[in-house]
Amino acid sequence: MEVFRKNPFKPNVIENNPTAFGLRTKEIIFSITSLLNDNSIFITGARGIGKSSLGLQLQKVLSGDNTLLKRCNMDDSYSDALCIYYACAEETTLEELCLDILYELEQEIMLLPKVKFNKLKPVLELNFGIIKAKFETEIESNKRSPSSIANRFVNGLRAIYNEALALGVFTGINIMIDEVDQLPKKINFGHFIKIIHETLNNRGCDKLTFLFAGQLGSYTRFNKEDPSFERIVKCVPLDRLSWEASNYILDYASATSNPRFQIDEDAKNLVLSLSSGYPYIVHLIGDSCFNELMNSYVITKSIVLTALEVILLTDKREKFTEKLRELEDLERDLIFYMASQPVEILPAEIPYEWIYDKVTDNLEVKKQLDSLLNSLISQGYLYSIKNKAVYIFSEELFRIFVSYIKIELSITKTARREFSDKSLDVNLIKERTEKDEKYNEMEIAGELINSMDANFISPEERKQLFNEYISSKIPSNYSNAWEEDNFKEKK
Ligand SMILES: Nc1ncnc2c1ncn2[C@@H]1O[C@H](COP(=O)(O)OP(=O)(O)OP(=O)(O)O)[C@@H](O)[C@H]1O
Ligand SMILES: [Mg+2]
Repeated sequence: MEVFRKNPFKPNVIENNPTAFGLRTKEIIFSITSLLNDNSIFITGARGIGKSSLGLQLQKVLSGDNTLLKRCNMDDSYSDALCIYYACAEETTLEELCLDILYELEQEIMLLPKVKFNKLKPVLELNFGIIKAKFETEIESNKRSPSSIANRFVNGLRAIYNEALALGVFTGINIMIDEVDQLPKKINFGHFIKIIHETLNNRGCDKLTFLFAGQLGSYTRFNKEDPSFERIVKCVPLDRLSWEASNYILDYASATSNPRFQIDEDAKNLVLSLSSGYPYIVHLIGDSCFNELMNSYVITKSIVLTALEVILLTDKREKFTEKLRELEDLERDLIFYMASQPVEILPAEIPYEWIYDKVTDNLEVKKQLDSLLNSLISQGYLYSIKNKAVYIFSEELFRIFVSYIKIELSITKTARREFSDKSLDVNLIKERTEKDEKYNEMEIAGELINSMDANFISPEERKQLFNEYISSKIPSNYSNAWEEDNFKEKK
């Protein structure tokens, strides 16, 4: 009989299990201390770095689960807050945001344990439904100003807050607003939050905190919208996860999967250096390895390399091609050049002197190069260590993709088409790939008359090319270069 295989990796799911979470002790202690002192916080960081996961972990602590605190050697928090989660979208309006949060609040209250719910029920019937309905009709019938929406929103929140705290149903409320970078620019969210904060404080609702999360740059945006934002909301910048914490994700996964699997030391080092501190990539590669395991129970280096092939040739191909297309021509040339440098360590470390030829020593060229490098850093493609003497790709998988695709480009039409036409949409690429595949079949069947167009590469050939690339270009020395320079040690 087939056993049910439990895949412990979750590349697309927020990590809300405090035992599985790769620790970020410093950020957890800072955040939880701020929240328990009634301050709101703002988690910022690159895509997939773990903002939403950290936010939900903190909410777990606020609602009384002390597992994470114990793991960080912190005392129990004795907090029993009601926590709500809300994710913004591009089309979210302030009215919707407020209404949805009030709705979520109502839903969470409905789900409270019976003892708590019964305490609150009489108040709820009298107040909450009415307040929410009133809020709804008021803002629907009349376009309100942000401050008027804020006032009404706070009234809605207070209705439940005061009673619930007085009755001891919970000790506070925490509202997580995720993906705030999605909010349209025309909403002056920074200012809106300031009004909410002040109105809540004026009415004595200091046990109501917010937990915001958004991409790099969004905290700055809200500060620009209202300079008081910085004072009201503390920033928690999320950097890459340490080698040790990323390793924990793998260890935890191997201990909780069914059937259990082991990871060879070499395979582990490869996964960790490829993921360069992005927990998302640890899950992505882990997931792909688990799917390759079949009847074996050991993840070897060769399984990791097969997983890499699946990821780069299928899952990520489109996204990374798009990432290349988004660059200016000169930036793209530089990325191609840097990605294809021969490397001895993973993630690849590219010294400045490999890019800038000191012998030529042309100040103009140097200026242009520095500005390109700075632009690539600010767009999140690269980061530098050793005082800008060495450059590293933020996503090592992207670097490997770029250096591989450069080889493919030199021999295939499909890759050139995918890449060069800036206006190309996904359907067109699909259509063209199908066309290439048709040519392939025709050639095999001997039906091809005009071979001009048939400069394609079949999926099989692509795999072969990729394997040749991997066996000659992937080094077996690994480093945790993304961790602070000072702590750097070669693995
Ligand atoms: N500390 C961690 N330990 C274990 N897994 C984590 C950790 N942080 C994040 N993850 C995993 O990494 C992936 C990305 O995490 P998450 O969705 O929280 O990132 P994000 O920064 O919110 O991403 P986005 O910018 O896309 O919203 C998820 O699969 C999640 O399970
Ligand atoms: Mg997120």
